[in-house]
Amino acid sequence: MDFRDVVRRRKMVRSFTDEPVAADVVQRVLDTGRRGPSAGFSQGIEFVVVVDHETRQRIAAPAQETLDISGHHNFIAQAPAHIVVCVSPEVYRSRYREPDKGKVRGKIDDDALWVVPYWYTDAGAAMNLMLLAAVDEGIAAAFVGGDGDLLHELLAIPKEFIPIGIVLLGHAAPDAGQYGDVSARRIPRRPYHEVVHEGHW
Ligand SMILES: Cc1cc2nc3c(=O)[nH]c(=O)nc-3n(C[C@H](O)[C@H](O)[C@H](O)COP(=O)(O)O)c2cc1C
Repeated sequence: MDFRDVVRRRKMVRSFTDEPVAADVVQRVLDTGRRGPSAGFSQGIEFVVVVDHETRQRIAAPAQETLDISGHHNFIAQAPAHIVVCVSPEVYRSRYREPDKGKVRGKIDDDALWVVPYWYTDAGAAMNLMLLAAVDEGIAAAFVGGDGDLLHELLAIPKEFIPIGIVLLGHAAPDAGQYGDVSARRIPRRPYHEVVHEGHW
């Protein structure tokens, strides 16, 4: 698929059928995710793939109350494959202590150095690559936040890794359109000239 079509077609899908996603498709999506950029090539991002039905129900449980209130169904539980994106700030700090990182080495434990925490930047890049890969594979995807404590315990994620959220993969249910915006507010995308500043703000 043409890259621009992939980008245009990407949207958060919030309704999935029960049809599983083939293992090789999930693997290709993950392989794309691991090819993202990382600061200092730290590569501090790891993924947990969950297809087990009961585990997915448990991952989705904290969202149930909010969904009940807003009148939406639990699309998180419905998605047949979950990819939990995890990142370790410590991997970044270790990388930036290495000799080629020159001046910043002495400031690794100074939070001022990490005003923009690169680990989240990189995790977002990996997440977005997987959303685009899903479109390219002809499947549906969404990204949602998760309950960090629950994910740590349920999936035995090491303490130093932060689960930043979950990429859901599946096949769009026929009625997916009505969940195009979970808040039902239909917010339009901001126009080009409102968000792009040429030369200066
Ligand atoms: C960091 C992040 C967290 C998000 N968390 C949720 C979420 O918990 N539940 C949800 O339904 N959508 C979530 N979204 C999806 C956004 O609502 C969605 O990207 C936005 O409405 C724009 O729609 P689009 O991605 O389909 O273009 C999240 C998106 C991002 C980038």
